[in-house]
Amino acid sequence: MAAPAPPRTVLRVAAISGSLRRASANTGLIRAAAEICRESIPGLHIDHVDISELPLLNTDLEVNGRFPPAVEAFRDKVSSADCFLFASPEYNYSISGPLKNALDWGSRPPNCWADRAAAMLSASGGSGGSRSQYHIRQVGVFLDIHFINKPEVFTKAHLPPKKFDADGDLIDSETKEQVRRMLLSLQAFALRLQGKSEQGN
Ligand SMILES: Cc1cc2nc3c(=O)[nH]c(=O)nc-3n(C[C@H](O)[C@H](O)[C@H](O)COP(=O)(O)O)c2cc1C
Repeated sequence: MAAPAPPRTVLRVAAISGSLRRASANTGLIRAAAEICRESIPGLHIDHVDISELPLLNTDLEVNGRFPPAVEAFRDKVSSADCFLFASPEYNYSISGPLKNALDWGSRPPNCWADRAAAMLSASGGSGGSRSQYHIRQVGVFLDIHFINKPEVFTKAHLPPKKFDADGDLIDSETKEQVRRMLLSLQAFALRLQGKSEQGN
């Protein structure tokens, strides 16, 4: 039997981790998502967008309609993405500060987030990050980000079975399968939003 035709539409996903820690489990989720796409989801390509160099939001840093270089570079990556993947810890029942800062910089006019599909993951403590995810969804309403509703992926990073190694790499096959299903859902929804099918028509 002939191999299936490769997809004509390749979606570029800008993936943002809300944790700046070297061995972050959330950044590990993004690495795992990128590997899953390379291995088994043709048509979806993940670019990890590092937010660690962004200054804290201060509109005084906007001069003559220009942003600081790190912000300009970040906004270019957001603007050129087809869709988004957020992986963020929950901090005190809410969004991580670094992620909120990145969302805010991207929201400055013209809003770089609008009209794109998005999905999110979280690795956190006992809640798995559910409360932070619902706050991210709330911010996304104002930014015109269109989140997939399901599947939801809440990863209890520090409870057994062990899910991440000492470098923050995902080692749990059940979580990898959850991430894979979520990526497929993101791909289907992003294509629908763009008025395309997986075959590119
Ligand atoms: C300031 C702070 C607040 C936290 N608040 C919560 C919380 O409200 N709910 C939760 O489930 N975990 C909470 N945690 C735990 C982190 O979400 C958890 O350690 C997570 O793995 C960190 O993500 P990372 O491994 O990607 O850095 C908190 C951690 C920190 C540092």
